[in-house]
Amino acid sequence: MLYAIETQEITKHFDEITAVNKVSISVKPGELFGLLGPNGAGKTTLIHMLSTMTEPSSGSAKVWGYDVALEPGSVRQNIGVVFQDTTLDDRLTGRENLDLHGRLYGLDGKTRKKRIEEVLSLVELADRADVIVKTYSGGMMRRLEIARGLMHHPHVLFLDEPTLGLDPQTRLHIWEYIKKLNKEEGVSIVLTTHYMEEADHLCNRIAIIDNGEIVALDTPEALKNSLGGDVITLELEKPDDISRLCEIYQKNGCANIVSKKMNEVFITVKNGERQIPHILSLASTAGISIQSVSLRKPTLDDVFIHHTGRAIRDKEVSEIETVGYKIRSRRK
Ligand SMILES: Nc1ncnc2c1ncn2[C@@H]1O[C@H](COP(=O)(O)OP(=O)(O)OP(=O)(O)O)[C@@H](O)[C@H]1O
Ligand SMILES: [Mg+2]
Repeated sequence: MLYAIETQEITKHFDEITAVNKVSISVKPGELFGLLGPNGAGKTTLIHMLSTMTEPSSGSAKVWGYDVALEPGSVRQNIGVVFQDTTLDDRLTGRENLDLHGRLYGLDGKTRKKRIEEVLSLVELADRADVIVKTYSGGMMRRLEIARGLMHHPHVLFLDEPTLGLDPQTRLHIWEYIKKLNKEEGVSIVLTTHYMEEADHLCNRIAIIDNGEIVALDTPEALKNSLGGDVITLELEKPDDISRLCEIYQKNGCANIVSKKMNEVFITVKNGERQIPHILSLASTAGISIQSVSLRKPTLDDVFIHHTGRAIRDKEVSEIETVGYKIRSRRK
């Protein structure tokens, strides 16, 4: 079978830092595949190796059947890339940016003209195509970059943090374009994100990546189901009781302990609603006072916490502010 992407133990070292560590993944043609992980997990480095921007230190990768180290030219012909930081020329119009890209890929004038109209209409930017990019909003810039990545009909499209720093409504719009082009253009997509909702909403399969390694890989549903039920959060009156309570639950076999934080314990149980009385009575029998209890379906963040002991979202807010600033400062 021809995979859109196939890597074997691909690794990248930067001096003493191992940014990507022996990653082996296969992405099927037409798949929308997500790399979900926190800042510094190695997502961009992996995309850079797959798009021939940087050479692997060891291991190998094929993109659309071509080896990234041995056939970089063929790889580039078959991919489109939307980088994490914007690479548009903001002194040109949207149409001129697209035309320039088409020229770089050797498309003739007639083909360029036709394709520009197609990709503009796909991301609904036709009415703003002839104004300079400096006047675009952050979301419009991102849509134009996606359109540009599609100009030469790539088989595989890499989207590195496609909605980073965008407001929630614009993010929803971009999600719809990504779904549409995956369906209508049949393009295989690999996107990176640290927004679990984004990965959950868009991706057929997700690789959760942390410290350069894949810690879990499956469909969003299977990843969430792997925790074994609903997540119950128990807030304890005394943090010192946490270890004892976890021991009781583990001994009893009624729950999986997902994580602990300050005075909270996160556990997963099958049929959570029914189990709550039993869970509480075990605590009360042991003389442990529970202040509050809540129940919810597991999220991909719970899966991440389960595998790494940390949450994905820790640095999200400060990063959004930084990127928002980056986009704004480009427009000055
Ligand atoms: N050119 C480089 N030189 C040295 N270290 C680098 C370089 N590029 C990346 N790194 C390091 O490699 C690790 C992975 O970085 P990378 O940018 O791939 O992470 P990421 O998952 O894309 O993070 P983010 O969500 O912030 O974009 C980090 O520790 C980073 O500091
Ligand atoms: Mg990155």
